[in-house]
Amino acid sequence: MKTKIQGKESVMDYYQDDEVASKYIEQRYSSLFGKLRNEIEIKVINSFLKYLNPKTTLDLATGTGRITKSLKNYGQGYALDTSGEMLEHAKKDINNWTLRKSDAFDTQFEDNFFDVVISTRFIWHFDKSNRIKLFAEIRRILKDNGHLIFDFPNANIKRFIRKKAKIGFKRIYTQSWTTAGIKEELFKNNFQIVSIKGILHNPKILRNMSDKSSSMVNFFKMKLANILSRKEAYNYVVLAIKTKES
Ligand SMILES: C[S@@+](CC[C@H](N)C(=O)[O-])C[C@H]1O[C@@H](n2cnc3c(N)ncnc32)[C@H](O)[C@@H]1O
Repeated sequence: MKTKIQGKESVMDYYQDDEVASKYIEQRYSSLFGKLRNEIEIKVINSFLKYLNPKTTLDLATGTGRITKSLKNYGQGYALDTSGEMLEHAKKDINNWTLRKSDAFDTQFEDNFFDVVISTRFIWHFDKSNRIKLFAEIRRILKDNGHLIFDFPNANIKRFIRKKAKIGFKRIYTQSWTTAGIKEELFKNNFQIVSIKGILHNPKILRNMSDKSSSMVNFFKMKLANILSRKEAYNYVVLAIKTKES
């Protein structure tokens, strides 16, 4: 059994690898389940951006630019990551964003610079003490009343459903929350939830459908099943506003 990747340095090191970077999308987003997840996440984030209409947006830990490349209404876009290997892939797809190789915990941006910070598949990889540091840095670079958009795994979803992903990244430390739990944590870090959207309702059914056939017809059946079902969501995407320090 391989050791779990845990801690700020280990998470950073893991992605500084050509193989990890080049297999990133294929491993996580080539199944129908992965494709649907990607599509819905982008749709939800774009709906938040349309509502906010920011002048400046940062994608914190953009990786290969999976989300970044499909965003609209982001104003002046900046994206950072510590992995040169991941950023090499991002560069191929993203033209209008300013890409930087830098640390999310110490971004080097000036105070109150961004209207919106987006961060997907990132915050959940850190323990509470590091998350406090990360939220503090995000608050610092956000304008007053600026917004944070991020995703998180639903703590109510059983581990066996997640394990069906059968890929290496399971080894990375992953924090999950209930919606009440995330609300409390954000409150303690001086953020308030504005909107929270479930992604992939009833994931057990969707995963089973995804395994059975990779046809486009099945993909549309999955989309429909996701719309009709309103059971537990696999993940959530949250829009939160920076509040005054309490
Ligand atoms: C799971 S990937 C998420 C990438 C992208 N946001 C997405 O949703 O596909 C995590 C990313 O965090 C980056 N990363 C790890 N530690 C970091 C740090 N301290 N500062 C900035 N990026 C970091 C990794 O290089 C990797 O690209």
